[in-house]
Amino acid sequence: MQTSKDAFPAEIWPVLEGADPVGVRPIVLRKLVSDIAGLPDSWSGRLEFDLGKRHCVRLSRNSSIEVWLICWELGQDTLLHDHGGSSGAFALVRGSLIEDHADVDARDIRTREHRTGDAVAFGPRYLHNLVNVSGEPAVSLHAYSPPLRSMNFYGWSSSGPRHLREIPCDSPEPDLTGIQWPEVSAP
Ligand SMILES: [Fe+2]
Repeated sequence: MQTSKDAFPAEIWPVLEGADPVGVRPIVLRKLVSDIAGLPDSWSGRLEFDLGKRHCVRLSRNSSIEVWLICWELGQDTLLHDHGGSSGAFALVRGSLIEDHADVDARDIRTREHRTGDAVAFGPRYLHNLVNVSGEPAVSLHAYSPPLRSMNFYGWSSSGPRHLREIPCDSPEPDLTGIQWPEVSAP
């Protein structure tokens, strides 16, 4: 799939098209989503909120990077997941999100809040669950490199993350309908 230049002003194109095909560093992805956050004409016309599931729109994709807009209704979350080996970054452009996050071999999980204007980056061993527990819808911009191919979902036990399922996907909102999740029990 070709990069959709229509979505972004010319200053974004070198990042999208000149990227390392193997993988773009998280700090570059964070700058990318921050730059796009500052260009609302490239995404504000795509906002849509759905109480049934998060509304995800792919704004651009090439062989190295993809960029998504995600609209969050109240209470919507992701479940604890990684990004199938991709690095990533996200920026909040409206509202706030709570994030539980850890490394895949961590024993402790941390929680932090992201508010409008915040942007964070992460590497391929990063797990998180994002949820909108604020009193208003939220909007975020996400970049992944390489583009998502699968996501692994986890439960959390007293000894750390427990892998549950790998789900092939080409979207940060994979279809989890009918998935049977194994029990997560403490050792
Ligand atoms: Fe994620």
